[in-house]
Amino acid sequence: VLKNLSPQDLAGKTVLLTAGATQEPWDAVRYWTNPSSGLMGACLALAAYLRGAKVHVVSGPQIPWLPNAIQHSKVKTAKEMYELVLDQADAFDIGIFTAAVADFSPLPFGGEKFKKDKAVSTPENSSALTIEFKANPDILATIGKQKKNGQLLVGFAAESSNLEFAVKSKLERKNCDLLVGNLINQENSGFKSENNSVFMQDRFGKSESLNNLPKTELAWRILNWLVAL
Ligand code: CTP
Ligand code: CA
Repeated sequence: VLKNLSPQDLAGKTVLLTAGATQEPWDAVRYWTNPSSGLMGACLALAAYLRGAKVHVVSGPQIPWLPNAIQHSKVKTAKEMYELVLDQADAFDIGIFTAAVADFSPLPFGGEKFKKDKAVSTPENSSALTIEFKANPDILATIGKQKKNGQLLVGFAAESSNLEFAVKSKLERKNCDLLVGNLINQENSGFKSENNSVFMQDRFGKSESLNNLPKTELAWRILNWLVAL
């Protein structure tokens, strides 16, 4: 019923969407992650599906419910997400990258559980633990570099300051058509919240701020913008 009530302005389009937080394992029980709920991605996936698109979501382990009509591949690590998305690089018209991807992963400790008496002591701190991290590939930047004619890319940015600057620079750096940014330290916005306040800008320099809207509504408006592009 909802689909019948929605404009079918994405009919015939394939959307590839990343969502949620990646999990980077360290030892047998611990991993490195972030508080992304995957809600913004799930709202966008659902909105795109209702508007007629074929939707494929590649998400971290935790993300809200999605209808069966949406293809859903779950991964754990940034590297797994990178590989799955790269496999699909030629198979979508619109790429929406909402995932909170770990920029770095801890070098694995191994299959055992780390015991606290193994922590490395330093003269300054007798109970310090040092863990090394390695950089992960940037999924959106890689897809941006090989963007095909007719493909549209939407990036996201969660920032603690300088939002407009970050949105403009990430838009260019990742060769996106639209970049949507939000501040993580605002009330009623960002991680875990059902609402969000965003600043977005497209590749033609047009920008807009939207304040304290439900993520469902924001998803609809972001797709309106994409349809116009
Ligand atoms: N992104 C990605 N792969 C990564 C890191 C980020 O696909 N390894 C995507 C995110 O899904 C988002 C955009 O790139 O759409 C911006 O992510 P963000 O973390 O804000 O930017 P970074 O380039 O990682 O820069 P920084 O975290 O230092 O601000
Ligand atoms: Ca990052």
